[in-house]
Amino acid sequence: MKIELLEEVDSTNTYIKRYLGGNEDRIVCAKRQTGGKGTKGRSFMSQEGGLYLSILKFYENFPAEKAFRIMAHAAVSVCKTAADFGVAAQIKWPNDVLANGGKLCGILIENVLNGKFVRASVVGIGVNVCNDLTALRRIAVSLSEAAGKKLCVEEVREKLLIHLREEDDFEDYLNLIGFLGQTVHVFAPDGKFLATALRVLENGNLEVSRNGEIMALSAAEITLRLEES
Ligand code: BTN
Repeated sequence: MKIELLEEVDSTNTYIKRYLGGNEDRIVCAKRQTGGKGTKGRSFMSQEGGLYLSILKFYENFPAEKAFRIMAHAAVSVCKTAADFGVAAQIKWPNDVLANGGKLCGILIENVLNGKFVRASVVGIGVNVCNDLTALRRIAVSLSEAAGKKLCVEEVREKLLIHLREEDDFEDYLNLIGFLGQTVHVFAPDGKFLATALRVLENGNLEVSRNGEIMALSAAEITLRLEES
């Protein structure tokens, strides 16, 4: 697969979309981003020392109802990469990767649909490796901090690319979800409530129990805060 290495770009996700007109899978990495994008329209701090990459992948006959698998595979790959450096990372549904209670990585997926099928996906991954997180202290953590030694971005990138190429297995994702069985704060458009997280369904929805009532929550509609955070 073609890999492009950039010094600086606004956002690797935005940049890689210029190739959507073709049909060739590729990867774009940048040392820093000036307009890193997060989920729900947020920005993503992207100073040098972090790993910022986007993968463009084209599909044939990939049903949109299975699109969550793309996200799950990316999150699992990051956890496996962290494990390569001795860090036990976990996934905060749907796709934040946490270590030592802080956010280690964010993932932004932008799918291009063709009817009921995914034609292409842009998977953007930002991992804190050895970037300065002073402004995000208590929220974010770097892989170097969690590993207890300064890690090199290129080395982390190589490991991540290996895991991204591996076969995806949804069981791995389920095993890495860190808070099942726990009480979570759910922030919904019509207010917030407490619920017990039960399981993640294959379509990506989170099944919770709220006062004995079982309901499925969509990540697009709600935000979750863990009890201890
Ligand atoms: C989030 O946590 O809200 C998602 C953050 C995703 C950040 C990555 S960094 C590489 C790619 N380019 C972007 O602009 N965003 C993603």
